[in-house]
Amino acid sequence: MPIVSVLSLKGGVGKTSVVLGLAGAATVKGLATLVIDLDPQGNATSILAAHKPTATAADVLSHPTLATLHEALTPCAWEVAPGEVDVVPSSPDLIGYDAFRSDAAFHPRLVKALSKLEGYDLVLIDCPPSLGALTRDALAASDLALIVSTPSYFSLQGAERAAKEIEEIRKHHNPKLKLVGVLPNRVRSIADEHDFRIKELGEIFGRQVMRPSIPERIALQQAEGFGKPVQTVRTAGAREVSVIFEKHLNHLLRAAR
Ligand SMILES: Nc1ncnc2c1ncn2[C@@H]1O[C@H](COP(=O)(O)OP(=O)(O)OP(=O)(O)O)[C@@H](O)[C@H]1O
Ligand SMILES: [Mg+2]
Repeated sequence: MPIVSVLSLKGGVGKTSVVLGLAGAATVKGLATLVIDLDPQGNATSILAAHKPTATAADVLSHPTLATLHEALTPCAWEVAPGEVDVVPSSPDLIGYDAFRSDAAFHPRLVKALSKLEGYDLVLIDCPPSLGALTRDALAASDLALIVSTPSYFSLQGAERAAKEIEEIRKHHNPKLKLVGVLPNRVRSIADEHDFRIKELGEIFGRQVMRPSIPERIALQQAEGFGKPVQTVRTAGAREVSVIFEKHLNHLLRAAR
């Protein structure tokens, strides 16, 4: 059961869209996927949670046991047979868990709750746009980390910072953690600036830049508006990004072996 954190320091680069795109691809493939929404904004929860949960990710962090995790597991209303998605929903209370004081005072909690979880083929963690305690907790519980970056100067800076954080967590808390790659999102093929930034990303991350990039496609926003996976949107753009998500999902599954 690979556990994958999707992160970036920069906000709005497409973390949640990538989590939803991968969850949709996994469902089409027949996998049972769990999405853990660790972002207090709750964007993934608003799309995925079929009903009001009895417990949330904040409860899981406050009582990191399998029992609390089971209480928080909420089914998703997506109808994309043959697989299925559940979500551990976000809560505004999560913000209280993001303060990071020092490494000595940091005690990962999510890993305790997940250690005995069974029944899923894939766990995706949607991180908040920060490298605070919530993202660190997600990384400490993960096998793989996937950084999302748009082709912009500020986002590249954020990706470098995120990669450093992953390395810190690997060294001090979770030796099995691996950076699976940096996924460029919202790429416009005709923009010279984007070409330049993708090359720059290649100079920093080399073969860890994940290909193909995800192009800028309105289908992702439509899917979000409909509350459906992009895999069920019937447009050329949706089909194009669905094929790309399927490739990246297969890559993640191979990398986790
Ligand atoms: N490839 C894309 N093409 C078009 N729109 C996109 C693409 N990727 C993301 N978006 C849109 O950009 C907006 C921000 O994306 P998203 O919420 O996934 O980013 P995020 O990194 O999770 O943000 P936050 O840091 O606030 O959690 C959303 O409205 C989403 O639909
Ligand atoms: Mg998000």
